[in-house]
Amino acid sequence: MQNVAKKVEQALSTVYDPDLKKDLIALGMIKNLVVGDTLISFTIILTTPACPLKEVLKQACIQAIHNQVSSDFEVIIETTAKVTSSRSKTTVLPEVSNVIAIASGKGGVGKSTIATHLALALSQHGARVGLLDADIFGPSIPTMWGCDTQKPTIIENKGKKYILPISKYGVKLLSIGFLSHSKEAIIWRGPMASAAFKQLIQDSDWGQLDYLFIDLPPGTSDIHLTMVQTVSVTGVIIVTTPQKVALIDAIKAIDMFRKEQIKVPILGLIENMSYFSIEKEAMHMPHYIFGKEGGKTLAEKEGISFLGQVPLLPAICTQGDLGIMGDEIIEPFGDIAQMVAQQIAIQNAAS
Ligand SMILES: Nc1ncnc2c1ncn2[C@@H]1O[C@H](COP(=O)(O)OP(=O)(O)O)[C@@H](O)[C@H]1O
Ligand SMILES: [Mg+2]
Repeated sequence: MQNVAKKVEQALSTVYDPDLKKDLIALGMIKNLVVGDTLISFTIILTTPACPLKEVLKQACIQAIHNQVSSDFEVIIETTAKVTSSRSKTTVLPEVSNVIAIASGKGGVGKSTIATHLALALSQHGARVGLLDADIFGPSIPTMWGCDTQKPTIIENKGKKYILPISKYGVKLLSIGFLSHSKEAIIWRGPMASAAFKQLIQDSDWGQLDYLFIDLPPGTSDIHLTMVQTVSVTGVIIVTTPQKVALIDAIKAIDMFRKEQIKVPILGLIENMSYFSIEKEAMHMPHYIFGKEGGKTLAEKEGISFLGQVPLLPAICTQGDLGIMGDEIIEPFGDIAQMVAQQIAIQNAAS
């Protein structure tokens, strides 16, 4: 049996993770290997529960065992995930594996919408997710999540007070809007805004999280600088719509994150409101209202990963306005969330 186990390990060492560019044995991704008379079982430890390669890896393992050990064995593979991290552990929020900022050049391009749906999709995959709304100019997370009348609880631990995030649809939420009255927010900038942001990061009890999304204000602001000075950020996702005026501002945002004082890795770009689709006689007829593939072209030009296109969908707007998220992930957010998780895992492996 031991002999067979060795052969199985050898076979699995020929299966490569295409993202991490190493074999599954070298990566320590195989656990609980049990070899029986007719059965081989083991667990693959993935780098994210939203791994888009789950099925591909399983099939590759089965094939390697059947080809290199024996095709007589039945192979049973379970998967589990241990989300990776490359954040500095000496920073604030050491229990948060990945901090992902969502940024744009312009307002109204769908940052909060995308942050919301990415958070929901990753949470539905089984990840522990938080969402911090840092948009001082227009905090919309409380409305989108239907908790605009709620106030977070304050708890005391060892004489220090902590803000407890609100839990909704399995996601932990905090908003700069909870700390101010919405009508005041517009005059509430500069040092006050930065202080509020710091409080939401440093004086809040987020607990253990796999992914914490930060929904940033549009453009460049004090909050961006405060963010990088306060917390180690895994990466940023740029959101843009396809038209030129949005793209010009998206380039400014990209340049800012590449600046020496800021220097946050860019995980990729998402193009929102890419087209409106009219279903006619079972035909999919996309109308490129704001021009075609402006975001995609920009990502290629800047050498940034393109994470996907989100069409204009009435359901997205309605859900956001009502603050009621459905049980089902609205596509393409499921696919894009997997791409995001994949990019994070690749970056963590490289650093
Ligand atoms: N793909 C989409 N389809 C339909 N409506 C959308 C889409 N993306 C965003 N919206 C709507 O557009 C408005 C602005 O989006 P929002 O996420 O608040 O932008 P931002 O956070 O960048 O200011 C919201 O009402 C939102 O519901
Ligand atoms: Mg917003």
